[in-house]
Amino acid sequence: MTRSRRDRWRAALGIAVVLALAGCTAAGDAPWWQGPSTEAPSSAPVESPPPSEMPSQPRVDVGYRMPRLGPEEAPGLVARLAAMSAPEFTVVARWATPRGESVIGDVLDARFAELVRGFAAEHGAAWTPGVDVAPGGVGDACARQPLTTVGGLSLTVDCSIVVASGTVLGERLIVIRRDDARATSVDRSTWYTDAATGALGDGAALFRPGVEARVLALLAEGLRAADLAGVSDPFASYTPDEVHRLLADTVITADDMVVPVPLLRTAGRSHQAVAVVVPVRLVVPFLNPFGVAVHAAAVDAAPFEAPPAPTGADRVDCTLVTCVSITFDDGPSGLTDGLIDTLRELRAPATFFLQGVNVQRRPDEVRRLVEEEHELGNHTWGHPFLTKLPDREVRDEIDRTQAEIHAASGVVPRSLRPPYGDMDERVRDLAGLPMVVWDVDTNDWQAPGSAVVAERAVSGSSRGSIVLMHDTHEETVAAVPDVVHGLRDRGFTLATVSEQFDGMLPGDGENVSHGPR
Ligand code: NI
Repeated sequence: MTRSRRDRWRAALGIAVVLALAGCTAAGDAPWWQGPSTEAPSSAPVESPPPSEMPSQPRVDVGYRMPRLGPEEAPGLVARLAAMSAPEFTVVARWATPRGESVIGDVLDARFAELVRGFAAEHGAAWTPGVDVAPGGVGDACARQPLTTVGGLSLTVDCSIVVASGTVLGERLIVIRRDDARATSVDRSTWYTDAATGALGDGAALFRPGVEARVLALLAEGLRAADLAGVSDPFASYTPDEVHRLLADTVITADDMVVPVPLLRTAGRSHQAVAVVVPVRLVVPFLNPFGVAVHAAAVDAAPFEAPPAPTGADRVDCTLVTCVSITFDDGPSGLTDGLIDTLRELRAPATFFLQGVNVQRRPDEVRRLVEEEHELGNHTWGHPFLTKLPDREVRDEIDRTQAEIHAASGVVPRSLRPPYGDMDERVRDLAGLPMVVWDVDTNDWQAPGSAVVAERAVSGSSRGSIVLMHDTHEETVAAVPDVVHGLRDRGFTLATVSEQFDGMLPGDGENVSHGPR
């Protein structure tokens, strides 16, 4: 990790943000941007026509495909899935944020938390995050496939990454309210951020002040060329707020500016939109420095500089999304190093309950766990049945382990997992720490094979589950990618145990086997 890159993403937190929650416009038929799912990946090489054949004027392109980058082109993002299934309605909201701290992450998380909670409240329900609501779950951040339409009354939020190059990220978000197949409102916006400057804003924030009329004139020219303008100035009746909403969904590519324009407007309601494509050279004079940086990033198509946050640095709100914790006991072992690599690749945080005797042997692994921001817990020194030990030895098992973990890593664990889950009133009183056990036992120590370990972890989990595994068994470590993918496919977000409690575990001697439900 380079310190300067991380600081740059952090610096962006200092920028004040006015979050414009654009109102919704009504829409009719199936929206044009939801192409068939057989759509070719956007990364497929496309031959550009020679300059003489490049369209030189604004135009309408009904078949226009917005960019939709995959995880290879936009690495370092984490997926968010806020889903709820109630008798009256369904909510599936999917978006992506850079891992760790970022201003765009904070803004999107806050925006969608408000949106989905508000929708549930409108229909008389408290927000209760669920799983198995969206086919394919959260999977990769803003994957290539659009969300499947759900029946009945629904709110869906779908995302696509339109640019991820250098320090610039652009994420397109489409919020649709449906009553069965009919879309009753559609709200489109594209959010950009440049970690180099801390800039953040929607598509309307890419333009210099006072140029809106000239940008609209270009869009009108495109509509007229396609005989769709209707009147000489199709935007004459737009209020400043409607202009902002229109330009909020401005997408800048290397060659073009693309703005979806609602076709028919009656009494402030608009229907289906068409893509108006304007050669970008006509737009560049109207872009501000942020807009110029976004265009330059689209031209460069440089590798995306994801914020270099450690594995566990993604702060999740487990009251908004559905969390689950994977935990590993008895280590560190000779397998822990490889497991840390795997978790890093999967961007999956975990909680490790360490034995003091093994910490003494492998302090380097403990330091690595802390660097990656995994959570550490105490699993005693020698793994005894604590209820069978006299008071002094119970204290000694716990205290020596606390001291050893602190000496190795500088961290003092804030929870205890009693070996075998063995505890009673006396042990809880002596512990001086919250007790964290589990509600999903993979029984991996019986060596049932990796597939069985993964199956038990994935299908056994429900909201708030704490999954017990051991990083002392090879087949457990081998099962971890299937465990993580399987949980995410069901719609779970991985969190450390204390994250499930918003950083505040229950008090000393309290006993938990799962997060809040
Ligand atoms: Ni154990």
